[in-house]
Amino acid sequence: YSTSLKAIRGSFLDFIEDPFFVPDELESARYIPDGLLILENGYIKELGEYEQLKDKYAAIPITAYPDCLIMPGFIDTHIHFPQTEMIAAYGEQLLEWLNKYTFPVEGKFKDKDYAQKIASFFLDELIKNGTTTALVFAAVFPQSVEAFFAEASRRNMRMISGKVMMDRNAPDFLRDTAESSYQDSKKLIQKWHKNGRLLYAVTPRFAVTSTEEQLEMARKLLEEFPDVYLHTHLSENVKEVELVAQIYPESKGYLDVYDRAGLVKEKSIFAHGLQLRDDEFQRLSEAKSAISFCPTSNLFLGSGLFKLFQAKSIENPVKVGLGTDVGGGTSFSMLQTTNEAYKIIQLQGEKLSSFKALFLATLGGAKSLCLEDKIGNFDVGKEADFIVLDLQATPLMALRNSQTPPAKTKAEIAEKAFTMMILGDDRTIRATYIAGELAYSKKNVN
Ligand code: GUN
Ligand code: ZN
Repeated sequence: YSTSLKAIRGSFLDFIEDPFFVPDELESARYIPDGLLILENGYIKELGEYEQLKDKYAAIPITAYPDCLIMPGFIDTHIHFPQTEMIAAYGEQLLEWLNKYTFPVEGKFKDKDYAQKIASFFLDELIKNGTTTALVFAAVFPQSVEAFFAEASRRNMRMISGKVMMDRNAPDFLRDTAESSYQDSKKLIQKWHKNGRLLYAVTPRFAVTSTEEQLEMARKLLEEFPDVYLHTHLSENVKEVELVAQIYPESKGYLDVYDRAGLVKEKSIFAHGLQLRDDEFQRLSEAKSAISFCPTSNLFLGSGLFKLFQAKSIENPVKVGLGTDVGGGTSFSMLQTTNEAYKIIQLQGEKLSSFKALFLATLGGAKSLCLEDKIGNFDVGKEADFIVLDLQATPLMALRNSQTPPAKTKAEIAEKAFTMMILGDDRTIRATYIAGELAYSKKNVN
C-alpha cells in the first residue's frame, strides 16, 4: 500500500438515513463499536469492523482512540464570524441588539488585517469545537470575505461564506448599494467559489436591510452563478416580522418578500424561521430550501421556539440543519447547541433524541447545504472530516457514563450519546481531522 493510506481505530457512529423519517430511528444510524477507518488522500476509503479489516491493512500504521466515539465533523449551518468578539451582549432583543451591539462591531471589519485576525481566531474556535464545515456570514466589506476565505483555505476547510448585502436601515458606514453589492459579490464569486473546498453564498442580511432593488441583484447573481448559495435570515422575531410587513406592504408575508425576488430555491438557507406560518413551511418544503435552527440564539435573544417537528413533517418536509448563530448564539459548541435544542423541544411537549439531534448536527446539516455527496457521514469517497469525542471528558461525564457498560449496541450508544449532547462542549472534542489530516488534538488528556 502507498504511504498515503492511514487508519483510525475506535468506535464509529454516523447516519445513513434521516431518523425523523424511519419507523425505528435506530435504523438510521451505523454504529461500529470497534471499527477501522481507512483514509486515502483526504478521502474515506473504507470503514468496517477492526477484526475484518486488520489483515487487509496490516501494513498501515494505526492511530487508535480507545474508549472514544468517532463521528463525522459537525456542520454549523448558520454563524457570523465578525460577531465573535461581541458574543454575550446584554439585555436586548433582535432589532435593538443589532443597532446597539452588532452594527458597531461589524464596522471594524473594513480593516482587512483585523478581519484576518478575527477570522483566524474564529476558525480555530470552530475546529476546537469539532465543527469542520460552516455556512458563515462575513461583514459588508469584501475584504472581510477575502480575509475569511484566506484563513479557511490555509486550513483546507470546506467553508461557505459571502459578503453581506445591506443597502438600507443600517448605519452609513455599513451600507453598500444595490449596484456595488452586485459587483463586489460577483468578483468574490469569481475568485473564491469552488476555489479548493470553498463555496460562495449570496448573503443579503435580511429583508429589513435590503431594498427590492438589492434583492433583484441577489437574484441576478443566482441566475448568473446557478450553483452558489443564498443565505439570509427569515422570520426570527415578532417585531421584525411586523417591520417587514410595513416595508414590503405588497408582499403576502416574510417569505414572500424573498420568493418574489426569486430567492427561495434549493440552495437557499434561511436562518431561524420561528414565526413562519403553515403556508410558508409548505412553500419552503416545495422549494427544497433549508432552515437553520439556532437554539442558543433563539433563547438568548428571546426570539421564540422553533417548530422542529412541523418542519420535519412527513407530508411537507423542510430540510433542517443546526446553527450556533454566534454572536446571537452563545456557544461555538454544536453539543451545547443540541443541549439547548433538546430543551426547546421539551417546552413544546416533544422529545429530541440523541440520534435526531446528532443527525441534524452532521448529515442533516450536509443535506441542508446540498453537500451530502461530499460530507456528513463515513460513506466511501466522502471527504475525511471527522472528530474524536471523549464521553468521559470531564469528571461529571466520566461519573455519568461509568453507570453503564461500554456501548455494544445502537440502543446503548444512543443512551450514552444523549449524556454527551446534554453535558458535552469543547472539552468533549479530543481531536479534529480535516481532509484526513489531524487539525486539532486536545492537550492534557488524562
Ligand atoms: N437578522 C439580521 N441580522 C441578524 C444577525 O446578525 N443575527 C441574528 N440573529 N439575526 C439577524
Ligand atoms: Zn444570524
